[in-house]
Amino acid sequence: MKKCKGFLSMLLVLLLVFMVSGCGQDAGSKGASSGAKDNGDGKLRIGLSVSDLTLERWQHDRDFFVAKAKELGADVLVQSANGDEAKQVSQIQNMISQDIDALVIIAINSDALTTVVDQAKSEGIPVLAYDRLVNGTEIDAYVSFDNVRVGEMQAEYLVEKVPTGKYFLMGGSPTDNNAKMFREGQMNIIQPLVDKGDIEIVGDQWAKGWDANEALKIMENALTANKNDIDAVVASNDSTAGGAIQALTAQSLAGKVAISGQDADLAGVQRIAEGIQTMTVYKPIKAIAEKSAEVAVQLAKGEKPAADSTVNNGKLDVPFIKLDPIKVGKENIVDTVIKDGFHSYDDVYKNVPESERPARP
Ligand code: GAL
Repeated sequence: MKKCKGFLSMLLVLLLVFMVSGCGQDAGSKGASSGAKDNGDGKLRIGLSVSDLTLERWQHDRDFFVAKAKELGADVLVQSANGDEAKQVSQIQNMISQDIDALVIIAINSDALTTVVDQAKSEGIPVLAYDRLVNGTEIDAYVSFDNVRVGEMQAEYLVEKVPTGKYFLMGGSPTDNNAKMFREGQMNIIQPLVDKGDIEIVGDQWAKGWDANEALKIMENALTANKNDIDAVVASNDSTAGGAIQALTAQSLAGKVAISGQDADLAGVQRIAEGIQTMTVYKPIKAIAEKSAEVAVQLAKGEKPAADSTVNNGKLDVPFIKLDPIKVGKENIVDTVIKDGFHSYDDVYKNVPESERPARP
């Protein structure tokens, strides 16, 4: 009898210890059960690692993201790596040591962040890939536009203007996963016309870091190699389109050779208004920045964001929150980027004679 009593009291003690320690709780994932890590002020803290702030759009992304996150009660620690891959890794390591509740990355190199993202995950920090996918590691979500569709829009617009002829392919940064997705979309439209013999691809180069000077050099060489006999340039964003147009201008070809772009940078939209760039793809930055801030706050709280699709990043099928891009040409600048408040009418048409401008909205 005594033994039995002893056994029961030991069982009781063990049960009490188990209940007090709550050791069945979900350990590890920060923010999962206890909400924000206590940063002293009880506020969520989000790390935003930006590839660079030289390209105009990323300044808008940062500003809209920070404003939305603040509205949602989170502080944001922003660091720009100025295009330096090693710097981006060390900045992220530094953020991890500062007790952030979620990490948001605009990657320079989609394939170079596996180790540091693994480190963040091992410390229970959820990770969101912003606009550019991060490959080979267990990120929690990817917010971007339909990047294959971006490439299709670029090519659709050009082949409508130039259905036959010699095309030069000016790819984006070779380390940016998006650049590959844009090219996939471009070839969805162009390849069938190449197979038909309507279009001939006379060159294909990729502009490191999306750099305008890189694009200028590439375009100068392409024009020399083809004795200026190029009918269209499939440029993947506005900064590289701008570099290519500098080379075309030097050969008095600006406005005569069709050329695509992306981002609706002010300079890009001005060139479209002036007739020397054919089109751009507008990706409402406010939309991606605010959506990403919402998703980052959800992740920081341990919640699962709703995603309309997934994309495989070489490690897992990542929940992909996909936004719609918008084709912009001379005919719809006012109804898109101006009506959206992304650029002002006066800024866009400042180099266009008043008599040639469309009506103000
Ligand atoms: C890409 C992004 C594009 C453009 C480019 C740099 O990753 O998706 O919208 O910003 O970088 O200009």
